[in-house]
Amino acid sequence: MNKDNLHILVTGGTGYIGSHVVVELLDQGHTVEIVDNLINSQIEVLDKIEQITNQRPVFHEVDLLDSSALNQVFDHSHFDLVIHFAGLKAVAESIEQPLKYYDNNITGALNLLQSMQSHDVKQLIFSSSATVYGDQGIEQCVETLPTGIKLTNPYGKTKYMIEEILKDLCVADPEFNIIALRYFNPVGNHVSGLLGENPNGIPNNLMPYIMKVAAGELPELHIFGNDYETPDGTCLRDYIHVVDLARGHLAAIRGLKPGFTAYNLGTGRPTSVLEMVTAFEQVSGQPLSHSFAPRRPGDLPKLYADPSKAERDLNWHAELTIEDAIRDILTFINHK
Ligand code: NAD
Ligand code: UFG
Repeated sequence: MNKDNLHILVTGGTGYIGSHVVVELLDQGHTVEIVDNLINSQIEVLDKIEQITNQRPVFHEVDLLDSSALNQVFDHSHFDLVIHFAGLKAVAESIEQPLKYYDNNITGALNLLQSMQSHDVKQLIFSSSATVYGDQGIEQCVETLPTGIKLTNPYGKTKYMIEEILKDLCVADPEFNIIALRYFNPVGNHVSGLLGENPNGIPNNLMPYIMKVAAGELPELHIFGNDYETPDGTCLRDYIHVVDLARGHLAAIRGLKPGFTAYNLGTGRPTSVLEMVTAFEQVSGQPLSHSFAPRRPGDLPKLYADPSKAERDLNWHAELTIEDAIRDILTFINHK
């Protein structure tokens, strides 16, 4: 496959990570079509993508659960490859509504794979997560570790189960080339401030919560636990700039090969919650109101990537810092 000007279907392409990947794909000269049901994104994202790239991807408002509508998308165009972001991702909601998560994420993935196979589209990049490593008491995760160990929520289990489905598919149909990218903690946004993460209501994740405090929409950040066995007592994570993450997908396209392969996309550098707060205060020049609260159930004290496999095989590594991410977030907040 000539990898220069591909026709790519992006599911979930109006979402936070998907929209950043679409920008990078268009900038590299690929042709992009998006499938999204807009359950967690807005149609206006297409205008922002167009403002940044001067190109407007074809958009299909289609739910992956609607297999006949999905098949029509594949009947209409021949895709060289699919990047699959579409899914629900709220950990707490997945515990409350497991069937909704299994249906949306697993059935959605199965419908997509069936459409791909029946239309002879056999190159796939899948958005997986560091959550597939579960709780093994290991802080720096490498791809040779087993997956699916002590997973604590249905969301994480869907990522693990989809990876297993993809492995089985590659055994049964050796023409499939599949890469699962295991994201660590994506943060930040496009440097223009036009795209970004803007959840409705009270966010669950650290950076969207900090953003709402900085924007004056929430009074203070609650730091969940300051008695962990870490240097400052708060949890360590691997925060990766979403633009670095997006570029990891470009590298993955070049690295597609027969069978199933998984890569970590992270920086390899752990950052504590308190370090993130301090960095935010330094870059913004403003204090960020925060207080300590009890531990959040299910949180691991330390989780960060060993990204050396992606460096070795894909010639990719993260280049941007958390300070870059915070600077870009401040631009995004000012644009709103
Ligand atoms: P997001 O919610 O911003 O984007 C997901 C998109 O998928 C949304 O636009 C949503 O409308 C769409 N979607 C959901 N279900 C759909 C369906 N049935 N049919 C069609 N469209 C559907 O999320 P994101 O942060 O951009 O995450 C993208 C992917 O990366 C997800 O699969 C997520 O699980 C995975 N991931 C995200 C993170 C993170 O921290 N953001 C970490 C690890 C993995
Ligand atoms: N945190 C706070 N206060 C908040 C929100 C978060 O102190 O208001 C802390 C958490 O306790 C944790 C750290 O900030 O120590 C990061 O929490 P996030 O919720 O931002 O991220 P997680 O590492 O818990 O989970 C994220 C995604 C999951 C994904 C996982 C691994 O939400 O979907 O990374 O990729 F599975």
